[in-house]
Amino acid sequence: MKDYFFLENLTIVKTYPNRGLLLTKGRGVFLYDNKDNQYLDLGSNYGVNILGYHHPILNKFLTEQINKLINLHGSFSNETRAQAAYLIKKKTEELLGASYKVIFASSGSEAVDNAVKIGLYLSKRKKIIAFTDAYHGKTFLSVAITDSQKYKKGIPSLLEKYIVRVKFNDIIDLERKFQNDVGVVVLELIQGDGGINIVDKLFVEKIFEIAKKKKAIVIIDEIQTGIGRTGKFFASEFFKVTPEILLLGKGLAGGIPASAILIKNNLADQLYQGLQTSTFGGNPLAAAGILAVFETINDKFLDNVNDTGYYFFNKLKKLRSKIIKNVRGKGLMIGVQVREDLRDKILKEMQTNRIIALPARNDVVRFLPPLILTKKILDQHFEKIVKSFLKFDNV
Ligand SMILES: Cc1ncc(COP(=O)(O)O)c(C=O)c1O
Repeated sequence: MKDYFFLENLTIVKTYPNRGLLLTKGRGVFLYDNKDNQYLDLGSNYGVNILGYHHPILNKFLTEQINKLINLHGSFSNETRAQAAYLIKKKTEELLGASYKVIFASSGSEAVDNAVKIGLYLSKRKKIIAFTDAYHGKTFLSVAITDSQKYKKGIPSLLEKYIVRVKFNDIIDLERKFQNDVGVVVLELIQGDGGINIVDKLFVEKIFEIAKKKKAIVIIDEIQTGIGRTGKFFASEFFKVTPEILLLGKGLAGGIPASAILIKNNLADQLYQGLQTSTFGGNPLAAAGILAVFETINDKFLDNVNDTGYYFFNKLKKLRSKIIKNVRGKGLMIGVQVREDLRDKILKEMQTNRIIALPARNDVVRFLPPLILTKKILDQHFEKIVKSFLKFDNV
């Protein structure tokens, strides 16, 4: 058999950490390696595979679309894309009480980048408020508004003079720094990569209050929190806010690359032709993935996210361990803060125990399982999770 570790090592630029696993197949909430070992996937590829693997509805929609048409530029109309956009629009009207139009893109960073561009265009200003511990991606602009320095070592800070960094959940800092030259504010309602930090309701309300007064555009980045992850379809529902721009990505098309920039109707109508296009944006295959996701996520599906999430959270909360400092999260977006020097060791131990979890910040073990995870499956594997934490209790 070919050594694919070697082949990747030889051919792919090493910008990713290497987990040392060769995964070849997925079924339900499980992933399988090249030796057919089974792993419980509690990461869903950073929150993407929300329907798990080999989901019958997703497979059906994708296969049907593959047999029709895979890619089509946005200058030509397509029935699958039109339906996907309509479903997104309908959902926002139903759940958020506001009406949006959609620009499709292919990745989260692409959505963030273009949303900021559009927000600055609309506001006719240059400054961007972003928060401590924020994560918005790795393109030049999205990494600039991302807080963590470890992602931008040696990269010239051309954009930094336009970025106002406000302390997350600090209203005084917000009021002080939110000046009239701020055009956009970019916020995650629950910070993901930054460590699963939930925004305070009062802080969100203050952002919207000042933004309204100063006519700045609020962009809510729901790339990680959206599409059911937190137990609501949009995390924005918890806060009863309707941002001018709302971003979706990750699980939007169940694993096919897709993201969406939702812009309130009145603002969407101010944009000009050519302002934003992309070759793959709104391609019919991704649109078919979106249809499958919307077909699948109903109230019963979200009840499972809430039930399983609550159950998982409480089981983690009850763990008695000296190295666990905090457990945070909502729905199936959960972070366990541990001693910083042990975090990677715990992740490695979990992997040895055939559990895949993710890192966040420097000291958080992050769980973003497929949203089809059940309490029963969790129960069957929970001992392995416990063991992976407790192994380091006396280190
Ligand atoms: C909140 C948030 N915004 C943006 C991104 C960037 O998305 P992508 O990796 O698809 O570019 C991520 C990815 O983790 C994210 O969590």
